[in-house]
Amino acid sequence: MALALVFFSVAATAHVEAVNTLTRAGDTRYRPTRHPDRIVLLPGAEAAREATISWRTDARVRQAQMQWVRAVESPGLHLTATTAIGQTRSLKTRNGLAHHHSVRLSGLEPDTLYAYRVRGDDTWSEWLQFRTAAGTFKPFSFLYFGDAQNSVRSHFSRVIRGGFRTSPDVSLMLHAGDLVNQRDGNHDDEWGEWFEAGGFLHAMVATVPVAGNHEYVTVTKSGNSEQRTLGPHWSRQFSPPRNGPKGFEDTVYFVRYSGVLFVVLDSMRALDESGAAAIQARWLDDLLSRDQSRWVIVSHHHPVFSVALGRDNSALRAHWMPVYERHNVDLVLQGHDHAYGRGHNLAEGSKAVGRAGGPVYVVSVAGPKQYIAAESARVGVERVGEDMQLYQLIRLEEDRLHYQSLTMTGRVYDAFELEHRPNGPKTFVPRIPPDPNETRCTNPSPPRGTRCWEGDELAL
Ligand SMILES: [Fe+2]
Repeated sequence: MALALVFFSVAATAHVEAVNTLTRAGDTRYRPTRHPDRIVLLPGAEAAREATISWRTDARVRQAQMQWVRAVESPGLHLTATTAIGQTRSLKTRNGLAHHHSVRLSGLEPDTLYAYRVRGDDTWSEWLQFRTAAGTFKPFSFLYFGDAQNSVRSHFSRVIRGGFRTSPDVSLMLHAGDLVNQRDGNHDDEWGEWFEAGGFLHAMVATVPVAGNHEYVTVTKSGNSEQRTLGPHWSRQFSPPRNGPKGFEDTVYFVRYSGVLFVVLDSMRALDESGAAAIQARWLDDLLSRDQSRWVIVSHHHPVFSVALGRDNSALRAHWMPVYERHNVDLVLQGHDHAYGRGHNLAEGSKAVGRAGGPVYVVSVAGPKQYIAAESARVGVERVGEDMQLYQLIRLEEDRLHYQSLTMTGRVYDAFELEHRPNGPKTFVPRIPPDPNETRCTNPSPPRGTRCWEGDELAL
């Protein structure tokens, strides 16, 4: 496969990164080397059969080469391994010229353990293992993270590692946008921190990334006009199935995983571009009309029902919510508001209880940036919290969905179940723990009225 030498240039803002990360001026900790790093595994559209593995090296490695094999007990994995060749794209950052490689695997066996390794310059990664999804419904668990975004190695690392420690058999990790802060600069250190925080988990557990507003960067065009565009790391590091509507393939897609449908939408473009919400709504409506999955989980970054003060995304309620309602979507997993909110189909600021069987909307946050929840959210949403780094552990069984939102001390802050008997209605069963008190901001010197922590002040 030809090497695509594409240079993407954004303004170098080393200072911004130095504040938001544990690296400092002149620090080359995250420069690419001959050794593969930033290895990440994404499921294909049919996760029982397809997966894509991406990694990074320095420019000495000009071909994306990996080996994969059905896992065996013997260490002789290389004896029967198949070599696969993929694509390589380059990216120049403050840390030097990197080659980003990816290989798409197809024809895999369902519910099967595979081993693989990826090639560096006269060296390899370690052998990594992953299990493909089942071909039909089979119970599994996954983790959902809200924004990591700021001080990622300093503070998000304990969240992703805590989730894994609580449930080491999770099959999938969903990141609901703003994985790093970036937006206006050369942010390779931030991505270095994100990959270091999750370490080998990114390479062994299927990753489902969602693009948030911070996945978009502002670039200066000729004539000094500015334009928001998807950051250069995104499509080099993540290779989703590209089965979304035309023009949205990088950030809108679906994955069928063990009988469950995961749909990822791009709320940034929905709110930023005329017609983008409607295009995604039509695509989703068509997809859900044909789908027979046991559970349907949708994720996008901006919330349908905002939790944070002064935020509202009415376009999502106008275009997307009717589709969710019509097709009985089970969960809508979101981020962006840097607080926790979970509502069972409630309009913002309303006490009206939604239709039985409607979607459950969740906003959560994994990183240290924490906002103050709006009073209206406290009225309209069934469970609200501030000043907590959280992860969500969700287990899907044939007739029951178990949801827990956990803090970094292991406390269950929120929990519910969805009961879904064959041919029967869906029932929402609250499981809020015995201490229902709402957690509020504890920072004695909050930076400003709507914020408890900025998040980037914590890596200093
Ligand atoms: Fe955001």
